[in-house]
Amino acid sequence: RIAGPSGMVIFGVTGDLSRKKLMPAIYDLANRGLLPAGFSLVGFARRDWADQDFGELVHDAVAEHARTPFRESVWNRLAEGIRFVQGSFDDDDAFDRLAATVRQLDEERGTGGNTAFYLSIPPGAFPVVTKQLARSGLAGADEESWRRVVIEKPFGHDLSSARELNGIVNHVFPEESVFRIDHYLGKETVQNLLAMRFANQMFEPIWNANYVDHVQITMAEDIGLGGRAGYYDGIGAARDVIQNHLLQLLALTAMEEPTSFDPKALRAEKVKVLEATKAVGPFAETTARGQYGGGWQGGKKVPGLLQEEGFARDSTTETYAAVTLEVQNRRWAGVPFHVRTGKRLGRRVTEIAVMFKRAPHLPFDSTATEELGQNALVIRVQPDEGVTMRFGSKVPGTTMEVRDVTMDFGYGHAFTESSPEAYERLILDVLLGEPSLFPVNEEVELSWRILDPVLQYWARSGSPEAYQPGSWGPESADAIMAREGRHWRRP
Ligand code: BG6
Repeated sequence: RIAGPSGMVIFGVTGDLSRKKLMPAIYDLANRGLLPAGFSLVGFARRDWADQDFGELVHDAVAEHARTPFRESVWNRLAEGIRFVQGSFDDDDAFDRLAATVRQLDEERGTGGNTAFYLSIPPGAFPVVTKQLARSGLAGADEESWRRVVIEKPFGHDLSSARELNGIVNHVFPEESVFRIDHYLGKETVQNLLAMRFANQMFEPIWNANYVDHVQITMAEDIGLGGRAGYYDGIGAARDVIQNHLLQLLALTAMEEPTSFDPKALRAEKVKVLEATKAVGPFAETTARGQYGGGWQGGKKVPGLLQEEGFARDSTTETYAAVTLEVQNRRWAGVPFHVRTGKRLGRRVTEIAVMFKRAPHLPFDSTATEELGQNALVIRVQPDEGVTMRFGSKVPGTTMEVRDVTMDFGYGHAFTESSPEAYERLILDVLLGEPSLFPVNEEVELSWRILDPVLQYWARSGSPEAYQPGSWGPESADAIMAREGRHWRRP
């Protein structure tokens, strides 16, 4: 799968995402031989730069963050196609110059005019940029070429703003040309959920309310929010990652088998399961919202959120969020899906843990099973990618005693192939016009519909609860589980 003649225009090239993820991913794709020879990369920003200055920025980003080794020949070929257009989003003239650059690249490098516009910019700027793309004629493809728009989250801040944005974007680009990035879908371990569930016989028969007690989806990070106030203050953990990444993980875990892996069939199943998903209340008891305070983490003194640069001193932005969801259909009736995420937690780990009911009968002395927990299937999304199965086993010795053991599949042991970075996979899919791994507008809107009632409740319920850095979140999160007689895993 090698991309055909094409180029990419990035808006927001001076941002973090662009430097840490997009530019390195483009280089890695080039290095793996997956980009066309004449691939062109255009940066658009306000800085007063020449092509060469932008080229240096890309070079440094690649040197620092690319996954594959730096090869002079690959870099030189890529560098020949790098251009910069200076301007602001409301500057008609700048967009006309951008249009001229895209035409020129077609003539000089044979991009065929095929262009992906990557909006790595705040959502407030989507309307003006899409309008400019339409006005300057950049958005409209002729019969021989394509134009696609790639949109980074957050896609709105609630259902109504997401609808409005979808309206604006779809006014200019038809839905099949809109690629909404959820980089979790670009991760190998996330795609493997589908392979694991639907390529095997042993999981699906027990993948339902008859056997599953509850599901825990955890995305924990040990980093804080220093340097990200501009994006994060006022947004918070639920909008940042639950609305998108974690609800996508839930959808892939809970959805029915698609009739094929055709993009339409796959997205139809995700839409269906999201339609059935609700946040269950009362939210005072089923949700938790926290903010990290200052303290010690890993032997280092770290500031609390309110001391981080750029955050309002009275910010009520949450850095931890836990929500209880239910998938209200026959397969999952009554099974809680507990979803949680946080910054400055004990360690960085993302996992989906399917926790099974206890055996209906244990033909042992009660003392024999004191150390027997629940069977669990844990999909380790990252780091240490793999799957763990936990079950009871006899402890060696002359008496019958059962204790939990684990059986592991690790990518590092099982495969010699290395995983491409999520952004590499997704950028390649954009250039190939392969939409399976991109959520459609309906999924985005349904995800907001699920979260909106919780966000509205939190807006009324005051400040988030403080928690210690390096901990596993606020006490109110533990209380959610305690009320159900369950507890969070300590991954
Ligand atoms: C982003 C969030 O989408 O995902 C960040 O905006 C978060 O807040 C990041 O840190 C985590 O991504 P990954 O791939 O490192 O798990």
